[in-house]
Amino acid sequence: MNRNSPRQSASQKKSTTSAAAPAAGTVAVLARMEDDDEEIVNGFKMVEEWDVSTMAWGEPDNEPPAMDAPKVEIAVEILLHPASGMSHTDAATQVSRYLRNNIFGAALDDEPPREISVKELSRVRSMMTKALQEHISEVVFEASDERPVVLINGYDSVKWSLYIYKMEAKAAVQGEIAEEMPAATHEILPSADFQRLWQSLVYDTPVKQELLSYAIGTVLFSKLNIDSDLITWNKVILLHGPPGTGKTSLCKALAQKLSIRMSEHFPGVYFVEINIHSLFSKWFSESGKLVTKMFNSIENIIKQKNAPLVCLLLDEVESLARSRQASVTGSEPSDALRAVNALLTQLDKIKKYSNVLIFTTSNISEAIDVAFVDRADIKQYIGNPSSAARDCIFLSCLEELVKKGVLLSSPGLLVAESSVRAMLRRISGNLSEGMSGRSLRKMPFLTHALRFSGRTGVDMKLFLEGMELTIAKHQSDLLAMGRTVATK
Ligand SMILES: Nc1ncnc2c1ncn2[C@@H]1O[C@H](COP(=O)(O)OP(=O)(O)O)[C@@H](O)[C@H]1O
Ligand SMILES: [Mg+2]
Repeated sequence: MNRNSPRQSASQKKSTTSAAAPAAGTVAVLARMEDDDEEIVNGFKMVEEWDVSTMAWGEPDNEPPAMDAPKVEIAVEILLHPASGMSHTDAATQVSRYLRNNIFGAALDDEPPREISVKELSRVRSMMTKALQEHISEVVFEASDERPVVLINGYDSVKWSLYIYKMEAKAAVQGEIAEEMPAATHEILPSADFQRLWQSLVYDTPVKQELLSYAIGTVLFSKLNIDSDLITWNKVILLHGPPGTGKTSLCKALAQKLSIRMSEHFPGVYFVEINIHSLFSKWFSESGKLVTKMFNSIENIIKQKNAPLVCLLLDEVESLARSRQASVTGSEPSDALRAVNALLTQLDKIKKYSNVLIFTTSNISEAIDVAFVDRADIKQYIGNPSSAARDCIFLSCLEELVKKGVLLSSPGLLVAESSVRAMLRRISGNLSEGMSGRSLRKMPFLTHALRFSGRTGVDMKLFLEGMELTIAKHQSDLLAMGRTVATK
């Protein structure tokens, strides 16, 4: 790798700010890093400069048709320090220059092309100059198709999309709104609270990527004011499946991702989580009125000048179906029915705005209110993790414990062919079959609390043996509970 490789001159490759129409299932390229820094500047249009006519897709494609396989797309999310005064354009220029010269310099020499994984790329920040690190606190890389290893033949063999953002400070306005919406919690995104969620969720299929593509597509179609009588698209996403599979977390993670990836279009995301349980219990007789009041407040935010993207989460909507059912059978007063109807009416009303996206979840796939199932454009089942996903989840737990000194690790202890990895794969196999992501993530803590209480620097093998016993106990306890329930 040659750290001083000369950059290609701008004339070597004519770059365009208009990208080819995105392939099905991929995200529109909002900012493309090209050879020339000036082009980079053009690629970053701030919200006020946003002009639909200059959008990447829909324009004629100036590039010659590609004969070979499409380029891998890599999204680069660059988090600036809160105190950094660096402009988005400068940050993009510096990072892309860094990648070109220091990471992919090899292909400009006569060295053979080499492979580099997205994980390897994640270490890029630590290799940057101290001066640059003072501005950039995190760089996350993500390949469009989640292939673990990207074949790199120089910087230009990849299609780069750079997203620069800062975390939102907790705004004072949140307090005010809290009074108007007692049955809701709200966050202004991107927020540090939601930052680790996306990466922490492991699925066997590219469900995260697909949902993100849907969500970005939705927002762009709305922004373009596409006639919804001619083309219908997705405004309401329903995630359903067993409890503890990450549905609520995935909605939050998606909203956070949108706040980063759509920052060219919206000054942040306003995330509102409506607590259906408390809406229908605490303020029971007032619920109908409360729903209307709450949505009026939300509507005020939606209609603001330079409004944020509003993501609404209705968690565990099955409780709505229960309320409705109860009022039909007469065990609850008709207040419940009125409140549910008010909620549905209000949802239909705010759905019409271009800057609104609605997420719903349900833990019971069969018993979701039909009114909700009908309204959801995307109904995505989220199941328990497979053995491979369980292995990934456990591995991330162990890595964290090693990082924080709870577990001892020597170099190579967690590499694929080590005996510790073989042990972990066994634990992730039949032993943990049927466990939810939530239960899996509890096992390391329980193991430590019950078997290594208060200790740090625990030997990895001993710990895994302990974890095997903890999981076996968890599974047999569940089985016993199941038997008790079944025999009642
Ligand atoms: N597929 C998964 N991969 C990694 N962690 C998971 C997964 N599913 C659940 N978890 C863990 O369980 C926690 C709780 O999940 P949650 O979003 O509340 O699930 P649900 O809403 O489906 O009941 C998550 O924050 C995460 O730590
Ligand atoms: Mg949930």
